[in-house]
Amino acid sequence: MAEALEGPILTTGDLVDDFERQFAAYLDREYAVGLTSCTAALQLALLAYGIGPGDEVITTPLTFVATANAILQVGASPVFVDVEPETGNIKADLIEHAVSRATKAILPVHLYGQMCDMRAIRGIADRHGLVVIEDAAHALESKRHGVGPGELSDAACFSFYATKSITSGEGGAAVTNTAEISVQLKKLRSHGMDLIAMDRYRDRYQHWDVDRLGWKYNMDNIQAALLLPQLEHIEERWHRREEICKRYEVAFSAVPGLDFPKVLPASKSGRHLFTIWVSPERRDEVLLRLQERGVGVVVNYRPIHLLSYYRRTFEYGEGMFPAAEEIGASTISLPLYPKLTDEEVEYVIEAVSEAVAKA
Ligand SMILES: Cc1ncc(COP(=O)(O)O)c(C=O)c1O
Repeated sequence: MAEALEGPILTTGDLVDDFERQFAAYLDREYAVGLTSCTAALQLALLAYGIGPGDEVITTPLTFVATANAILQVGASPVFVDVEPETGNIKADLIEHAVSRATKAILPVHLYGQMCDMRAIRGIADRHGLVVIEDAAHALESKRHGVGPGELSDAACFSFYATKSITSGEGGAAVTNTAEISVQLKKLRSHGMDLIAMDRYRDRYQHWDVDRLGWKYNMDNIQAALLLPQLEHIEERWHRREEICKRYEVAFSAVPGLDFPKVLPASKSGRHLFTIWVSPERRDEVLLRLQERGVGVVVNYRPIHLLSYYRRTFEYGEGMFPAAEEIGASTISLPLYPKLTDEEVEYVIEAVSEAVAKA
């Protein structure tokens, strides 16, 4: 951080380059591009693949609104497909039915950290000539049958928002194995300019040009300085979250009226969120009781198609994606972070068991 603050370049510079190299190496991908958010990464990845007005992008309604907003922000339309009841992830079997002449991309989200079936999704994309862009905001550490984010897709997008595995408060990155896409992403993050500030002034001033419209989404050296040392702690932090999740799973298996999403065989979940499912009629009562006991809770997620803007704009309504709606009405996310002590974990388990029994 001192190096970042004392150096001549506070904005995108050598520390961002270092972070991009090390982040790509952690994921075993060719290129990473540092951005201001995962939303920016999704938007720019879609643009880099030429997706825009008139195009459709198939995705899940059970995700943070950023996923679908990014599709709208490039002028394309999200086409929702329902989810698997046991994981909350997009149901690969249903994707093919949603493919139309306008479909250009599939945008899977690895919900809570469980990877989608990327082999199946890649197969569908190849049969129909589609691009695959992963929303891997929950899946930095994830694997399924040995496949990690960015391995079978055309680009994978990550978030360094305050609650993520590594964080710079706000921040994000896109990774890809395609050199030309990484060049486009770097251009698109700086207004479409062909030289960034550091290169414009490196020796003597150079003129720059813009040959396509871009945005202002470049990661700066200060964000990179915050992120770089955290790369070394990704796995150790993941191990502690895994330990906490395992403890929750053992305890909650014995509580009647409570279920939770499954980590599928041959998968390593990123363990980004631990959510429980209670019956929709009791969910808000349980939420209330947990807050009364000082347990922090969140709802991830009320499905996007039921949010007012989406209902109004696309005439979505209840009953269109029943599995996503059922999970959205049942879910409660519990505290999950490495500094949670064993005593605190036990307290949460006791509070949840009591709240569910009384509701
Ligand atoms: C699944 C998912 N996608 C996208 C985002 C957006 O990330 P950001 O806040 O970095 O834009 C989030 C953020 O929480 C997320 O959970």
